[in-house]
Amino acid sequence: MKTIRFTGYDTLSDFMAAEIATAIKNKPSLTLCMASGHTPALTAALLAKKLLDENIDYSTITFLGLDEWIGMPPENEGSCHYFFKTKLFEPLQLQPSQCFLFNSLAADMESECTKMDAVISERGGIDLMVVGIGMNGHIGFNEPGTSFATLSHIATLDETTTSVGQKYFKEKTALSKGVTIGLGHLLHAKKCFLIANGNKKAGVIKQTVEGPVTENFPASILQQHSNGFVLVDEEAASLLTTN
Ligand code: GLP
Repeated sequence: MKTIRFTGYDTLSDFMAAEIATAIKNKPSLTLCMASGHTPALTAALLAKKLLDENIDYSTITFLGLDEWIGMPPENEGSCHYFFKTKLFEPLQLQPSQCFLFNSLAADMESECTKMDAVISERGGIDLMVVGIGMNGHIGFNEPGTSFATLSHIATLDETTTSVGQKYFKEKTALSKGVTIGLGHLLHAKKCFLIANGNKKAGVIKQTVEGPVTENFPASILQQHSNGFVLVDEEAASLLTTN
């Protein structure tokens, strides 16, 4: 794992978008898995602009949405679905056949997980993964205590996740379960970036980079990834003692 520091959110997002665009250029059949949330918002916007401005062919990539709130209608602005639709799928006019998101309203969520695992397996694993970090160290909805070997699964959300998650919604919203691609997929992804910005992420970034590797702090799995990168702005890096 390597930590890369940036002066700010803009430069970090610019770098991340360029990395994804280059990966698509180098492998047109790229399997890309991305998180939604506030951190990757600028990356997604810059990526869409870059792909269009530079006329990069993304027609054969596969896009995987990292996670979703179970029971959340896709038209809800706080849903992960809404994020991907508005920031990537619509601007890029991605074909439904190349986009895979968990159906948050499915009657059978286990089958949603099986389907996602099959898509990943059929493509020989994830090529490039871009994830954020929650205030409890989660990645996607891999909550503290989740096995590093887990594939797609349903998660009972912890108190930090349900309270911090309110920031995505206009009104107080009941959140209790999520569905997510698992840490086992992350560990086997050919390349993985965790991105974080702002002072509020400084503590969890310190634990990610300098803390013990433990399933009680999911993001610490990055330390075990041979091609894992932690991208941080100055504020998120402010508690790090190592370079
Ligand atoms: C959310 C999502 C994650 C996201 C993380 C950080 O709960 N489940 O996929 O990466 O928490 O979100 P943000 O970037 O908004 O801080």
